[in-house]
Amino acid sequence: MAAPPWRLVLLPGDGIGPEVVSAVRPVLERMSWEFESRTGRRLEVQEAAIGGAAIDRFGTPLPEETLRHAQSADAILLGAVGGPAWDRLPPDRRPESGLLTLRRMLGVYANLRPARALPGVRSPLRPEIASGVDVLLVRELTGGLYFGKPRRQWVRQDGLRAALDTMTYDEGEIRRVARVAFAAARERRGRVTSVDKANVLACSRLWREVVTEVAQEYRDVRLDHQLVDSATIRLVQHPAEYDVLLTENLFGDILSDLLGGIVGQIGALASASLGAEGPGLFEPVHGSAPDLAGRDVATPAGALLSFALACRYAFGAPDLAQFLTEAVDAVLDEDAGLGTRAFGDRVAQHFWARSHVALT
Ligand code: IPM
Ligand code: MG
Repeated sequence: MAAPPWRLVLLPGDGIGPEVVSAVRPVLERMSWEFESRTGRRLEVQEAAIGGAAIDRFGTPLPEETLRHAQSADAILLGAVGGPAWDRLPPDRRPESGLLTLRRMLGVYANLRPARALPGVRSPLRPEIASGVDVLLVRELTGGLYFGKPRRQWVRQDGLRAALDTMTYDEGEIRRVARVAFAAARERRGRVTSVDKANVLACSRLWREVVTEVAQEYRDVRLDHQLVDSATIRLVQHPAEYDVLLTENLFGDILSDLLGGIVGQIGALASASLGAEGPGLFEPVHGSAPDLAGRDVATPAGALLSFALACRYAFGAPDLAQFLTEAVDAVLDEDAGLGTRAFGDRVAQHFWARSHVALT
């Protein structure tokens, strides 16, 4: 009996999300044969609604059906969520809450956000500073301020509005994501920089303790700790020094945009969110960019590279991931000012040329 197909669920979402996800389709089409011959399984693709698009159609940012599809998939490729049309909704009904609930329900606690100097992409930093940047940010994704309870806004007795968010971490949450970072460093240049705010926050002090303990299991990896404020300036001044950056949820959100600024193109950054088991969630680091939506101008490089990460981490096809990454690099390097759709088509051509040569 033939092996069951791999299942990929596409969640286009809002703004430029549908365009960048559509740009992956030509690659999927070109790839289907290679995919099957290398992994022994067909790739089955489904699409479902999330975010504002799901609110408009189903009244909720994460419909039951979407969650069911996602949970039974092998990988999920998400475009982006959010936009001005839904900005006035209460926090738990906004597009973003669909994504956050999905991350949480899938248990994808480790968010891998690689950032490297890209061919054809100019960094705003001086070339001697920006060249050779190759960082893997490992962001804790299912804890911290994003999920802590209680959380609310209210009017105090003195009539002033007040708000409360809660930051909590337990050692299990810290240990498991730290292990992901150390294991990744072993495959790279053997350095982990853990970023926290241990001079102020209790959560950060626990973070530092636990990460230091985990380092004992990885004695071949060098660990150092940096405070988030000084890490930020150091990243801008010496980005090439960093190998693996390990940090909690909110700091990771901020630092990953900073990395986008450093390499000069946040649209080209990809991410993989992985849990202990179950499907991985793959998404570009960029947001829904409402101002660019519907104009065929957004770069789909981040979405394409996110699919490359899916090939590596979800489908066990590192060679396809490599071809696809090289294909995206080649198109970035051509710097032809391609629109979203044309970019995807061109990547599919490059991908096919590479994988086809390799197979025959
Ligand atoms: C990201 C995004 C999300 C986050 C938003 C859309 C909820 O900024 O993936 O970096 O804050 O995690
Ligand atoms: Mg972000």
